[in-house]
Amino acid sequence: MIKKGIILSGGLGTRMSPLTKAVNKQLLPIYDKPLIYYPLSILLLSKIKNILIIVNKGQVDQYKKLLPDGKRLGIKIEYKEQASPKGLPDAFILGEKFIGKDNVALILGDNFFYGQNLTNTLIECCNLKKGAKILLHKVSKPEQYGVAKIDRNKKVIKIQEKPKKNISDLAITGLYFFDNKVINYSKKLKPSKRGEIEITDLLNIYRTKKLLKSDFIGRGGAWLDTGSIEDFYKTSAFVSAIENRQGFKIACLEEIALNNKWINKNHIKKAIKFYGNCIYSKYLSKLLV
Ligand code: DAU
Repeated sequence: MIKKGIILSGGLGTRMSPLTKAVNKQLLPIYDKPLIYYPLSILLLSKIKNILIIVNKGQVDQYKKLLPDGKRLGIKIEYKEQASPKGLPDAFILGEKFIGKDNVALILGDNFFYGQNLTNTLIECCNLKKGAKILLHKVSKPEQYGVAKIDRNKKVIKIQEKPKKNISDLAITGLYFFDNKVINYSKKLKPSKRGEIEITDLLNIYRTKKLLKSDFIGRGGAWLDTGSIEDFYKTSAFVSAIENRQGFKIACLEEIALNNKWINKNHIKKAIKFYGNCIYSKYLSKLLV
């Protein structure tokens, strides 16, 4: 059972400059809440209560203003600074002490997931005892992502980071589940041509050992990009459309924590005070009746 999760929430955000000059990308809004709420909500839906957020050097205080130590949500949040963006597997090197002897989930701070049956898929992924597991999603521009080629039995036979030549249209989403060996494997990785240690190299270690499993986020699920300014607005429009149509909020952290029975209505009252007079608080007040 995976009970620990890491959110990799640093990065330079250069593609979104000047928006990201003073504020980290994951603190910018996707419609009515900061981007980080969405990957964090995915960990909460996975029933993960021990969370490490990796942020850029000097940015811990910004995050702590928003998500202090997790008590408000009945969880435990720790922070760790990353000196520079060395690559995604750096999360497991920086997170070694946090992970300890346990297995761990990693979610990228800029990834957005939504869809029916998602919670069941997440819980199933967290049952991982040995090896690694990835979630695949069909995309129209696979060259922008890490991709996986699968055979007839849905076994992953090839993994490649941003392939110039199309080998598959199945992108590897930014949510990964690993056993404890991930720490040692990450330490052995060598930087790629772009100077980063690559998650695809890490996954290939598991694949060659026949310990890589995969599952799908099908057509009914959404995995959206927040890589560029345009993507930010498109994802915001998606959240706005769903929330305003249904009257439910996507990634309301307190609602998920309440449903998980990690907090009670007193916590919701405190959260309303914390947020002040805003639409998010109005939504929270509906949870009190
Ligand atoms: O979004 C899924 C894709 O994420 C995967 O399909 C790719 O295999 C994987 O390499 C990654 O590709 P990106 O090019 O989108 O990764 P990016 O460098 O944009 O980093 C993703 C997030 O992680 C972003 O919010 C910044 C953060 N980050 C990234 C690196 C490299 C860090 O916090 N530290 C880092 O060292």
